[in-house]
Amino acid sequence: MIRKCLFPAAGYGTRFLPATKVMPKEMLPILDRPLIQYGVEEAMEAGIKNMAIVTGRGKRALEDHFDVNYELEHQIRGTSKASLLDSIDRLIDNCTFSYTRQISMLGLGHAILTGEPLIGNEPFAVVLADDLCVGTSDGVLSQMVEVYKRFQCSIVAVEEVPITEIHKYGVVAGTMIEDDIMQVSTMVEKPMANEAPSNFAIIGRYILTPDIFQILESTKAGAGGEIQLTDALRTQAEQGKVIAYRFKGQRFDCGSPSGFVAATNHFYHLSRR
Ligand code: UTP
Repeated sequence: MIRKCLFPAAGYGTRFLPATKVMPKEMLPILDRPLIQYGVEEAMEAGIKNMAIVTGRGKRALEDHFDVNYELEHQIRGTSKASLLDSIDRLIDNCTFSYTRQISMLGLGHAILTGEPLIGNEPFAVVLADDLCVGTSDGVLSQMVEVYKRFQCSIVAVEEVPITEIHKYGVVAGTMIEDDIMQVSTMVEKPMANEAPSNFAIIGRYILTPDIFQILESTKAGAGGEIQLTDALRTQAEQGKVIAYRFKGQRFDCGSPSGFVAATNHFYHLSRR
């Protein structure tokens, strides 16, 4: 039912400069795989086959990663190293990849609007690859697809964060209707701690209904001078059309050095088991 996943990946990744001066943040590796590959694997696990990536200047490595490299493959064919490409080959063989470029980096909301021609008029998933998610059993996007099937409206993944951290996130308010499910009434982007309506922070996983595009078109620049997805989602929330889902699993904020190191340690320990 959810066939497409949009990956906004045009941001500058300034927190990782100078590493991200010419290399996309989404290509930073956690052990042997770049961040974007973890995101695509999670989407594929959720049954999604069409990957739509919003890139920007200097991001061509993303396209090359999801393509064959004949010279390299020729070099390692028949050696013990050939299997090192298995994980990426599986994605290339089973998914399609389409790309569009965001010309001016006007924010996440604008990046999503830029992806409209790749998505069309259907509900779709969104993955911010710098949030690396590990589900408890099913992946986080798989869990969200199940929630979407029940509620048929936009779904945002949320996590409870310490109030001292809340100013970094979009924050939801509403009514808990089940253990891990909130009917969202409103939301605010990057509130001060004393103005935050809750400690439920939105993380980089969404399922959006396509009316979001029309709302984004008339959304003015908000916090930080950027067109904020949170502002468009608030319009849907006020119509009773947003569910927040407290996912089961762990999230690493790999857009920050501490989260990046924590994710690296997590996957390193997993690989040693
Ligand atoms: P971030 O807020 O993490 O920004 O964007 P950033 O530029 O990637 O990183 P910093 O803060 O400068 O270190 C959240 C997501 O939205 C995408 C980013 O690529 C990231 O996946 N994004 C953001 C866009 O695609 N376009 C934009 O204009 C802004």
